[in-house]
Amino acid sequence: MSGSLTVTDNRTGKTYDLPIEEGAIRANALRQIKVDEDDFGLVSYDPAFLNTASARSAITYIDGDRGILRYRGYPIEQLAEESTYLETAYLLLFGELPTNEQLARFSHDVTYHTFLHENVKSLMEGFRYDAHPMGMLISVVAALSTFYPEAGSVDDEEVRLQQVVRLIAKVPTIAAWSFRHSRGLPYVYPDNDLGFTANFLSMMFKMGESRYHAEPALERALEVLFILHADHEQNCSANAMRAIGSSRVDPYSALAGAAAALYGPLHGGANEAVLRMLGEIGSVENVPAFVEGVKAGNGRLMGFGHRVYKNYDPRAKIIKQVADDVFEVTGRNPLLDVALELERIALEDEYFVSRKLYPNVDFYSGIIYQALELPTTLFPVMFAIPRTAGWLAQWLEGVVDPEQKIARPRQLYTGAGERSYTPIETRASGSVLAATFR
Ligand code: CMC
Repeated sequence: MSGSLTVTDNRTGKTYDLPIEEGAIRANALRQIKVDEDDFGLVSYDPAFLNTASARSAITYIDGDRGILRYRGYPIEQLAEESTYLETAYLLLFGELPTNEQLARFSHDVTYHTFLHENVKSLMEGFRYDAHPMGMLISVVAALSTFYPEAGSVDDEEVRLQQVVRLIAKVPTIAAWSFRHSRGLPYVYPDNDLGFTANFLSMMFKMGESRYHAEPALERALEVLFILHADHEQNCSANAMRAIGSSRVDPYSALAGAAAALYGPLHGGANEAVLRMLGEIGSVENVPAFVEGVKAGNGRLMGFGHRVYKNYDPRAKIIKQVADDVFEVTGRNPLLDVALELERIALEDEYFVSRKLYPNVDFYSGIIYQALELPTTLFPVMFAIPRTAGWLAQWLEGVVDPEQKIARPRQLYTGAGERSYTPIETRASGSVLAATFR
């Protein structure tokens, strides 16, 4: 009985045994279910992959009902407490925590690849003064493929690892320069004597001083935020990374596509949307009316809800603690009170409780970024920097997976059957969309 699923096709009365492996049936096993020999076979219809596993993966584990997140088996709470971003990136990419020697080597390699080709700088200078930094990041990451044409040799392990190091190293430089660009400030070159987050803060905020000294509490807060955002299994952007990578394109092009997916307000753009929302609400007294508006269908409570978590997002819990550490240095962000009140009301309200809508990672991260004096447009970029490690881990796993084929879903065709072309003079009416061209 165990290990298989028996289904009866009521169209034909035939019965089939479909093997169950790792809690799943293979969708392809449905293809044998046909009404006759000409039938293509049964397919499963699952827009948005609500109940479809698109990969076997050993990287990140989420139990959404219990609010559990682990990277390679290690609880996110322990990594946030004990680890560094580069160590966590190593863990995600290679499966085990590094030894001292391995970490030193990895950190050295990343540190010495933080510089960008000078032509990349000219490219960035060509953007308008008010260009969205996420648009800049996406474009510049894609452009990097033209600087490293060997990156297309995705079957070569050494080449793959070289691009992994380059991307983890260079994305923060692009991110910081996109910020400097928006401020009309000169771009700051990386400082190889600094650690990953201290160097990033230096490229962001260094002015006339010979060396930028980041506040240790802020450096650590950023490190924790980066650890929390490093991976999140098969989310929209990881899925984009894997799908694009399945065409065997170079990782720069694939990562530009993943970053584009992250940019959307339902994904990594949510932290930007949360801040806009909190700003619109303005003060604690306006919270109840805003919540009523959301319940009446006027928009969503941004930073709430998750496809997988039906419990408090464990990252949001840790971020709340980080916020306190940051506010001790920067002073309290007044929007925090609005956020806390929103959370309090929402967690008691039947609408949110019955739909299991809890704060997600984006609910508090934006408040911290704002306290660090980052513009809201930079928030999705702050998400993309650490997620680079996760995207690359997902990509590496996919590229060497013997089961990987080019991602190519089926469709349920809903259009017209075959019909004959009619000359334009004889057409009674065009498409309703044609009204657009009147
Ligand atoms: N505010 C109000 N109602 C909501 C919200 C929300 N934030 N999220 C979901 N709902 C309602 C939704 O209207 C639906 O209600 P009903 O059953 O009456 O139609 C129900 O909850 C289920 O929603 P869904 O859209 O089917 O859920 P989903 O799994 O497709 O969407 C989500 C997940 C994250 C896109 C969604 O919760 C959302 O839009 N949240 C706000 C945006 C956000 O914070 N995104 C960041 C996600 S975490 C960071 C990341 O991983 O990128």
